[in-house]
Amino acid sequence: HPSNHQMEESSILKQAECRAKGGAPGFKVAILGAAGGIGQPLSLLMKMNPLVSVLHLYDVVNTPGVTADISHMDTGAVVKGFLGQQQLENALTGMDLIIIPAGVPRKPGMTRDDLFNINAGIVRTLCEGIAKCCPNAIVNLISNPVNSTVPIAAEVFKKAGTYDPKKLLGVTMLDVVRANTFVAEVLGVDPRDVDVPVVGGHAGVTILPLLSQVKPPCSFTIEETEYLTKRIQDGGTEVVQAKAGAGSATLSMAYAAVKFADACLRGLKGGADIVECAFVSSQVTELPFFASKVRLGRAGAEEIYQLGPLNEYERVGLEKAKKELVESIQKGISFIRK
Ligand code: NAD
Ligand code: LMR
Repeated sequence: HPSNHQMEESSILKQAECRAKGGAPGFKVAILGAAGGIGQPLSLLMKMNPLVSVLHLYDVVNTPGVTADISHMDTGAVVKGFLGQQQLENALTGMDLIIIPAGVPRKPGMTRDDLFNINAGIVRTLCEGIAKCCPNAIVNLISNPVNSTVPIAAEVFKKAGTYDPKKLLGVTMLDVVRANTFVAEVLGVDPRDVDVPVVGGHAGVTILPLLSQVKPPCSFTIEETEYLTKRIQDGGTEVVQAKAGAGSATLSMAYAAVKFADACLRGLKGGADIVECAFVSSQVTELPFFASKVRLGRAGAEEIYQLGPLNEYERVGLEKAKKELVESIQKGISFIRK
């Protein structure tokens, strides 16, 4: 007689097959760090995404509970949990998209770079698994410091001979989400109607909102520009301080991660004109990685857009951003090459 576990496995497979035959192509998505502050609401929201047919939830703790809970939602995706390093390879095999919110978050007084020592090793291990088990998957990297963890991931993939720069995307969507919200507040309009490009990187002065390129076209006083730029750059710290030791942004981040992952999946499906900001391998500046608008398609970030015309305030900001970014990128590269 098959064990309960075997029966569960075969019924999960049957369900997935059945849905796959049923029409709309579904994608297979794994979340690494799925039991965490970001991971749980992110798992919830991805379970609601109609483009997802299979959802793998991996963490080093608590995935059985999170998986049991989320699997009861009556949406299409079939959910499966994976616990601990020995199940990492099974979690990754066959996946189209990997979302990584694994790692420690900031506490008040810390910079994102203070997380490097712990998170660099976590990202390395997870990316070694990706290189081995799903080298063609799109990777959405959330773990901080993004300015260094993306170069770390690139080096791991290069070492393994699997690096495709189009498929490695550092998630900076939360900066765009915040920028849209804060700009809409100042303009007195609905945030859903606002689109603010945010370029550079994902830490302090490397976060560079291009307020001269806001859609719909509008203009700001110098006071508004300074207020908005600083509020967008310090958005993460605002949440870290408000949470007072209990972590950093998780709910708005899960929202932003799903917005970005959904854009990646629509791109994989062949949708047209899907453009979002992300931290990617880039020739837009002299730096090897930079966040800017990218067009998402079947191959990942298929086109990387130039920054467009900057005003004087933004040109000064760009120089400051590059100065910090170059060091964070180098730190990530050295961590693997040393
Ligand atoms: P959290 O501590 O609540 O959750 C992290 C999860 O990662 C935990 O469940 C933990 O068990 C898991 N984990 C640790 N080591 C792991 C490993 N080796 N493999 C798999 N999972 C592992 O933290 P959080 O609030 O969810 O934040 C996670 C990360 O996301 C932090 O580094 C944070 O700074 C970053 N973050 C990035 C952005 C962004 O905009 N890119 C926004 C918010 C947070
Ligand atoms: C954020 O921008 O909210 C994240 O990068 C988390 C943090 O440490 O600020």
